Amino acid sequence: MDDTDFPAEFDRVLFTEKQIAARVKELAAQVDEDYAGEDLLLVGVLKGAMMIMADLSRELKTPAEIDWMAVSSYGSGVTSSGVVRILKDLDISIEGRNVLIVEDVLDSGLTLRWLVRSLQARQPKTLRLLTLLRKPEAVRNQLDVAYVGFDIDNEFVVGYGMDHNEKFRNMGNIGVLNS
Ligand code: IMP
Ligand code: MG
Repeated sequence: MDDTDFPAEFDRVLFTEKQIAARVKELAAQVDEDYAGEDLLLVGVLKGAMMIMADLSRELKTPAEIDWMAVSSYGSGVTSSGVVRILKDLDISIEGRNVLIVEDVLDSGLTLRWLVRSLQARQPKTLRLLTLLRKPEAVRNQLDVAYVGFDIDNEFVVGYGMDHNEKFRNMGNIGVLNS
């Protein structure tokens, strides 16, 4: 598939594979600089972070371990309530580790805010956030994010790990759905 091709359900492509790859490279360089010579544990949030985790971790020069969590928000399902249930917990202990949470997209940021509190209680040495995309509400909610790929408008995006009813995760591009 050509880099700019997109399915009929897309209104438009927001970021092409090439644009994403270039930005992920930059993020990885920043992470490498900040964690040089340090221990690093990447924690991905399933399932959306699958692509950014795969690409970011391969761009890193810093040796890193990888673990995953799965969480689900209680509430309407459309907007996040900030009340979260752990569906799959970490396999690795984070006590005394440098933990970097890797996310696909922050909307309200409420899920991540809850996750940060919950992981902080396990006494990591450091705990930071990286997200490929950030929407305006997360900025308004003043969520402290160390690494942001792109700030985007308040639109529903899919592709590159992100889904609508489990579809479009396997697209290389990120697109905006037809409304
Ligand atoms: P938040 O708690 O409002 O920040 O949203 C939590 C989760 O909702 C994100 O980690 C995504 O998995 C999902 N989400 C939010 N916005 C989008 C989107 O535009 N497309 C796909 N998933 C999204
Ligand atoms: Mg997510």
